[in-house]
Amino acid sequence: MLVLGIESSCDETAAAIVNEKKEILGQCLLSSLEEHKLYGGVVPEIAARSHLEYIDEIIENTFKDAKVKPQEIDAVAASSGPGLIGGVVIGVMAAKALALALNKPFIALNHLEGHALAARLTSDVAYPYLLLLISGGHCQLLIVRGVGNFERLGTTIDDAAGEAFDKVSKMLGLGYPGGPIIEKMAELGNPERFVLPRPLYNSHDCNLSFSGLKTAVRKIIESYSTDGIIEHAVMRKQDIADICACFQKAVADCLLHKLETAAKIFKTKCPDGKDIVVSGGVAANTYIRNRMQSFADKNGFTFSAPPIRFCTDNGVMIAWAGLERAQKGLFNELDFKPRPRWPLDENAPKAAGAGGVKA
Ligand code: KG4
Ligand code: ZN
Repeated sequence: MLVLGIESSCDETAAAIVNEKKEILGQCLLSSLEEHKLYGGVVPEIAARSHLEYIDEIIENTFKDAKVKPQEIDAVAASSGPGLIGGVVIGVMAAKALALALNKPFIALNHLEGHALAARLTSDVAYPYLLLLISGGHCQLLIVRGVGNFERLGTTIDDAAGEAFDKVSKMLGLGYPGGPIIEKMAELGNPERFVLPRPLYNSHDCNLSFSGLKTAVRKIIESYSTDGIIEHAVMRKQDIADICACFQKAVADCLLHKLETAAKIFKTKCPDGKDIVVSGGVAANTYIRNRMQSFADKNGFTFSAPPIRFCTDNGVMIAWAGLERAQKGLFNELDFKPRPRWPLDENAPKAAGAGGVKA
């Protein structure tokens, strides 16, 4: 079985073809990231224009790379939400057009399901597993029982983890996207120098919050400015590195603490479950990955994380999750409407960083 996956929900225009032997036959990815840097975040209109300009070429190149003819694929999957709706519509329209022209089934894939199942392509991860999904727009802990079968244990109640990295980076004048820059700076810093809060640490549930942490960082930066304006702060490179190290440690402490709570619930609900998985853009962070690895080692779990290029948005994860759906015969009609809001666990209450409110 061969499935084509198309991704266009944020700033990456991407496509890939995978088969059930977990082989990636072809892939192609283009990011409009450089065009957004000037604005300190993704500008939806710029992203949508770029998707529109390049999507045909990306799909064509994917077929060429895979040495597969369009007629040979068995289904076409596209990220159909949640995400920036202009981009999502472009990917969905391209996928529907192909499916119609080739007379193949169309799969409307939840972008978050792409992130959630990516580790099953690259590692031996069995259902059910405990997933920490941390990206630019989402931050949640879930039990993944199967395709389309998710139970949310916790979520951020305000900012997503990646959003917090991006905002702190912006405050420090370090640029976008913030995650990779902060991680690099943190390597040079002292993680004990500044005292930062661990929001919701004692809440006894699996929920997270990063907005207070961000405000605490802002206050430290303000203290380096004579007029209280953070853009006027005069900081040495070492001060910035120390803030980055303290911030990254605080985020990781919160994530690990809630992972511990979630792991206890997971053990009770799924006694046979052995795997802990991390995915989403922030899963590219080596410090967070290492801390999760040692937690899993100490507590008898197997830890898996997709390779870094499959943590941030890509077409391969969409093709793979599409393939898992196709294997179960889970297809969609061509009148499927893209969903800007689309939580993985539809039974859980609405939440900002869980596919409920924002991209
Ligand atoms: O999954 P993704 O590519 O897009 C969304 O669907 O949101 O995630 C992008 C997010 C950005 O906020 C970026 O700053 C963050 O992932 N990120 C990182 C790292 N690499 C990317 N955060 C922390 N450390 C990293 N190394
Ligand atoms: Zn994503």
